[in-house]
Amino acid sequence: MTGAGSNGAGEPRPSVDRRPRPVVLDCDPGHDDALAILLALARPELQVLAVTTVAGNAPLERTTRNALRVLTLLGRTDVPVASGAERPLVRAPWIPVEFHGQSGLDGADLPEPAVRPVAEDAIELTARVVREAANPVTLVPTGPLTNIALFLRAHPRLVPRIGAISLMGGSLGEGNTTAAAEFNLWSDPEAAAIVFEAGIPILMSGLDVTHQALVLPPDIARLEHVGGRTGRVFADLLRFFAVHHRQRYGWDGPPIHDAVAVARLVEPGLVMSRRLRVDVETAGELTRGRTVADPEGLSGRPPNAEVGLAIDRERFVDLLVEAVASFA
Ligand code: RIB
Ligand code: CA
Repeated sequence: MTGAGSNGAGEPRPSVDRRPRPVVLDCDPGHDDALAILLALARPELQVLAVTTVAGNAPLERTTRNALRVLTLLGRTDVPVASGAERPLVRAPWIPVEFHGQSGLDGADLPEPAVRPVAEDAIELTARVVREAANPVTLVPTGPLTNIALFLRAHPRLVPRIGAISLMGGSLGEGNTTAAAEFNLWSDPEAAAIVFEAGIPILMSGLDVTHQALVLPPDIARLEHVGGRTGRVFADLLRFFAVHHRQRYGWDGPPIHDAVAVARLVEPGLVMSRRLRVDVETAGELTRGRTVADPEGLSGRPPNAEVGLAIDRERFVDLLVEAVASFA
């Protein structure tokens, strides 16, 4: 197991280049996606070039509206937003409405969007900002990987300009949608297989680590106290997000899955990981979307992912509280 700062898979490492890491957030807001957006915008180590949306926690129209609402709340309507895939490559869409509510971001008084998406779709906006970026871009998908797969297939000549993919998804242990699979990769396993086979360094934040990334009631109170309107809105979002997790898992607070994919880019050592070969099951009936690790290299295929296995939860929460406070 390695700390976040000591591997070749795109994890931050001490370097002389102090320029912020350019990132594209591809998301399906979604309560934890909203916190991932907040954290990415709050950090000087990152430059958010674009936010793209995908269907997942809610239909595409709602995940796009939610991304625009979050950016409006945070005063960052300068960040271009483009919508992408309204359904997986092959599979039928399925929405777990109990987690995020009918809107996909229930539980808080969010503003209506002050801006509209750009004219391009997610794939073309991603291609444009990648072409224009001075440095290789890190893609940060926190929903089904449909947009990422479509981008990789539509723009193969831009693949060398993608430095890493820090994704929330998968699980080496328990699933949350089936016994075998996590929602993002279960939703579009064919897209996930394309991404894991692309040869781009992957930082995988699956349920193995994100189920440790709980934000508990005292943490929510901290965030509400320091954050002004932003703090109140995100505290309300988290309290809504906590309800189903308490019913289903008995936890006192919700896992902020998606923000882990961002946090590990800005905080060396936050996530303990192991470099592994990981492939995605697409043919199995019981195992659709499962991430299969190959620690002994029996497949003969090279390691492709830094798989998150543990997190400093208290430090993770501090990062979220600091991020909310910065928007107070
Ligand atoms: O399985 C958790 C993932 O599914 C998170 O990204 C959450 O937002 C949902 O999209
Ligand atoms: Ca998500």
